[in-house]
Formats: sequence, C-alpha cells, structure tokens
Amino acid sequence: MPCLVTVGGFFGDEGKGKIIAYLAKKDNPSIAVRGGVGPNAGHTFAHEGKEYKVRMLPSAGLNPATRLLIGAGVLVNPQILLKEIAMFQADDRTYVDAQCGIIEQAHIDRDKGEHLNGKIGTTGTGTGPANADRALRTLRMARDVPELSLYVEDVSNSVNYALENNEKVLVEGTQGTYLSLFHGGYPFVTSKDVTASGICSDIGIGPKKVDDVLVVYKAYVTRVGGGPLQNEISEEEAKKRGWLEFGSVTGRQRRAAPFDFDLAKKANRINSATQIAVTKLDVMFPACARVRQYEKLPADARRYIEDIEGELGVKATLIGTGPELDDVIDRR
Ligand code: IMP
Ligand code: MG
Repeated sequence: MPCLVTVGGFFGDEGKGKIIAYLAKKDNPSIAVRGGVGPNAGHTFAHEGKEYKVRMLPSAGLNPATRLLIGAGVLVNPQILLKEIAMFQADDRTYVDAQCGIIEQAHIDRDKGEHLNGKIGTTGTGTGPANADRALRTLRMARDVPELSLYVEDVSNSVNYALENNEKVLVEGTQGTYLSLFHGGYPFVTSKDVTASGICSDIGIGPKKVDDVLVVYKAYVTRVGGGPLQNEISEEEAKKRGWLEFGSVTGRQRRAAPFDFDLAKKANRINSATQIAVTKLDVMFPACARVRQYEKLPADARRYIEDIEGELGVKATLIGTGPELDDVIDRR
C-alpha cells in the first residue's frame, strides 16, 4: 500500500475509524492524512479497553511514528483540534494545511436553524455554513489563526513528497458515499463530495498517486438525520438485532436497515474500490466475536461475506469482529 485511500460506502458510521486505527498500527505508515468535511465526523476506535473518538485528527494517533495531517479541503474547529492534539500528545507530529477553513461560532449558530437542523438533520457542527462561506470566499483560513501557527504547513507538498519517496500514506475519508453532496440523495447530504476522488482532492493528490481504494461497509446499514433509507426496520426490530446505535458526534439514535447490495455496488463503482472492508460482523453473528482468522468464522458468517464479495466482485480484505482495533480478520 504506498497510498491507500479509505472511504465509507454507505451513510457514514461504517467503522472507518477502527479500520484506520488498525492499519496505522499494522502497516506503520509514515503519514495518515484526513480528508472529508470536518468535525461533523466522529471516528471511534478502542485499544486495550480504552475508547477514543476523533473528530479532527486522523484515527492513527496511537502510532507515535505516524505523522497526523489534515488536508486543505477539511474544515477545522481549532478548539476541538487542540484538545485532540493534547489527548494523543501529538504536538510534534500534527500538521494542518494553511488553507483549511476555520469554523467560527457564527457557523455553528447558523447550523441550528430550521432548514439545516429541522429538515436536513445536520450534526449542528457548523460545517455546512462554513463551506457556504468558503464558496463565497469570506471564510477565515488556518493560516490566519495564531493558535494553529505551530501546526500549519503545506499538506499536499508533504504527502506528495512522501509518496515520491515511496513512504506509506494512509488517506482517511469521512462520512460516506451517500452523504456526498453530489452522489447522495440531495438535499439530505453533507456539504461537499466525500467519495474517494473528493477525498484525494481535499488532500491534494492526483488520481494516479492512489494504489488502493478501500471502501468500508458495515454488515448492516445505519443512517442519522433525514433522507431515504431503503428497507428501514423499526426501532424495536433494530434493538432485537443489536443494530440500535447512537451517533458519536450528536448522540442521536441511528436508523437501521439490512445490508444494501444495490447501494454497495454503486459505491464500489463511484469510488473505484480495489478492496472492501466489512465491519461489525460480530453484531450479525455473535459467534464471530473477536475471531481473527477467516477459517475460524462460522459457516453462515463466511457465507455472508462470500455473498457480498460475489455481488460486488471485490475481495473483503478486512473484516471487523469486535470493537478493539485488533479485532480484525486481515486477508490481504
Ligand atoms: P452535516 O454534515 O452536519 O451538514 O449534516 C448533513 C447530513 O449528514 C446529516 O444527515 C448528518 O447526520 C449526516 N452526517 C454528517 N457527518 C456524518 C458522519 O460523520 N456520520 C454520519 N452521518 C453524518
Ligand atoms: Mg461516525
């Protein structure tokens, strides 16, 4: 993997954080770089019983040898970022592009309005209004924020330089394909494109620099906020199946539905998937919990994976079997 791009295949919350945290530990990349919208995303991972949530930094903070970068396309909330830098003691390995846009309180206030909060059901983190100001060219940039001066650099230069030196770069997308402003069901989408091409653009790497695109799917589908969800099940049914989840940024209850092959096929195409990950298989098949070898999965769980691979025509290289970052079957 010199350059691996990881994106979500459904509506976000597919478990990208845990997959990235695993890859950061296992593959020891010199850089993990985050694209996507901004602090509306919450990526969660657990290690040795402790749970971590990041909204700004890449989910690679537990590997002290990995530099943590934020691409120019990403919106930064300085308060949240500074807290996360402190949490991972990442002062000397965090780099923010000078042209990251800055979220102000006024953006957060505007995100609580009737249309965004009421109709769309946004996360209320100010990202949509900030991206609107960015398009109007009135947004403040990271280079203008004194508290960030220590971290500001040209992230696309760093990433391209590392790739030219054959170093490993792990690119972390946020949200999911069907929250893309272009490819999701408008207007129930986020404020920019979040497919693999958009994530690369956020960071400033060209399409020919990418070696692998890993699209992450959860074993079932969840969605927070408004918008269509095919074959949505009731709250009681979701509870019975163990699919009832709550948002890591907003705490809102997530809606749930079975794995959607049509959405996944389309997401694989849009993102040009070369591999897929399937997370939370242990929620579907409790006997899978913490299994780390494919051969040790029960037959019905293997069949589930093989059905997905058969429909999508791409190998499930990583399978999540529990919350700990090492609870992964790695078939690469
Ligand atoms: P916004 O991105 O806060 O403007 O919200 C727009 C829509 O995207 C809403 O339905 C949110 O719930 C959803 N959304 C944004 N970011 C995430 C995420 O990281 N995970 C899941 N849903 C998200
Ligand atoms: Mg999330």
